[in-house]
Amino acid sequence: MAVGNILPAGKPLLIIRGKDMIPEHIYLDFNASTPIAAEVAEAMKPFLSQHFGNPSSLHWAGIPAKEAVEHARRQVSDLLQCQANEIVFTSGGSESNNHAIKGVFFALREKGNHIITTHIEHPAVINPCRFLEKLGAEVTYVGVDSYGRVNPEEVEKAITKKTILITVMHANNEVGTIQPIIRISNIAKKHRILFHTDAAQSVGKIVTRVDDLGVDLLSIAGHKLYAPKGIGALYVRKGTPIEPLIHGAGHESGRRAGTENVLFMVGLGKACEIAKKYMDDDRILKLRDRFWKLLQDNFGEKVVLNGHPAHRLPNTLNVSFVGKAGADILARLDGVAASTGAACHSGSVELSPVLKAMGIAPEVGMGAIRFSLGRTTTVQELETVIQLLKNAIPSLD
Ligand SMILES: Cc1ncc(COP(=O)(O)O)c(C=O)c1O
Repeated sequence: MAVGNILPAGKPLLIIRGKDMIPEHIYLDFNASTPIAAEVAEAMKPFLSQHFGNPSSLHWAGIPAKEAVEHARRQVSDLLQCQANEIVFTSGGSESNNHAIKGVFFALREKGNHIITTHIEHPAVINPCRFLEKLGAEVTYVGVDSYGRVNPEEVEKAITKKTILITVMHANNEVGTIQPIIRISNIAKKHRILFHTDAAQSVGKIVTRVDDLGVDLLSIAGHKLYAPKGIGALYVRKGTPIEPLIHGAGHESGRRAGTENVLFMVGLGKACEIAKKYMDDDRILKLRDRFWKLLQDNFGEKVVLNGHPAHRLPNTLNVSFVGKAGADILARLDGVAASTGAACHSGSVELSPVLKAMGIAPEVGMGAIRFSLGRTTTVQELETVIQLLKNAIPSLD
């Protein structure tokens, strides 16, 4: 089978199935990862060949590398509207979250040991919290409503004298629900508690200006915004007490040791620069809503929306085909890349922790499919998926 081309530079490959020309590969899993944007790949190219120097070297080979890192840092900070020296490059969303949570815990453990988070966080937040529990941290996991939204009042109620950090994701990766971050950050400020948000899914999709959000720490994952995998950043507000995760030499102003991954930093910088241009573009939102309308027109009450109808990432459509198994449906959508929120283990259905926390009934949750759209998604692709679903769903009756 030929490899589908979803890079912005190319069009999806077409094959002939019966009378119809349909794309062989349709990618609707942009929340899992994005392709590297053509402009990003172009910006990275010189750093695969001529600009190989170590940014710490003071000679002709090191200087352009150092300049490139600092330029990339400015590009990232420009997207978040913060100071360039408040950006620490990391290996991705997981490291950024680990750095924020463990870093604050180790810096403030004399002051307190209590962390507040939610049940719908990515494992890259839940598991550092679980790890810190073994080291004496107390963690409160706040619940969500049926749309996957946290109630800020519950966050406030959970605060104790020992609370040192609140960490609530900006937007959920599975259902796309956007959290009331500003209200939570106001609460954190009132109680003088540090506030971190995992913005791996929101950066590049919605506005993530750190002062508007009122956060002290914010995590970015490059591969969710058309940069390579294995690069990310952590925004650290000036003056925030935080221990490094990786100790060593003084890279990243002593906040993250290790010779800089110049190539990928350049990629992330370029991706952030490009993302700014997409902020006012509602093409993906319109496509997503059109897709939802088509699903409703074709499947009526048999399809339900998971996640908040309004406070939701513009590219994310998580729907349940009631009474069906998401995995069975996906298996029949030949060539379509999307995700399900449930797994079947020896005949019983295990919903994802997010769907469980939202209180979704098993017969609904087991039919969940996350379609996440991106810059290369077309109307034709979505219409093809509808057609494939129309063939697939009755065959599962
Ligand atoms: C919300 C969220 N946080 C963190 C991560 C982890 O990011 P990375 O894959 O860059 O480690 C992901 C990736 O799926 C995510 O969706």
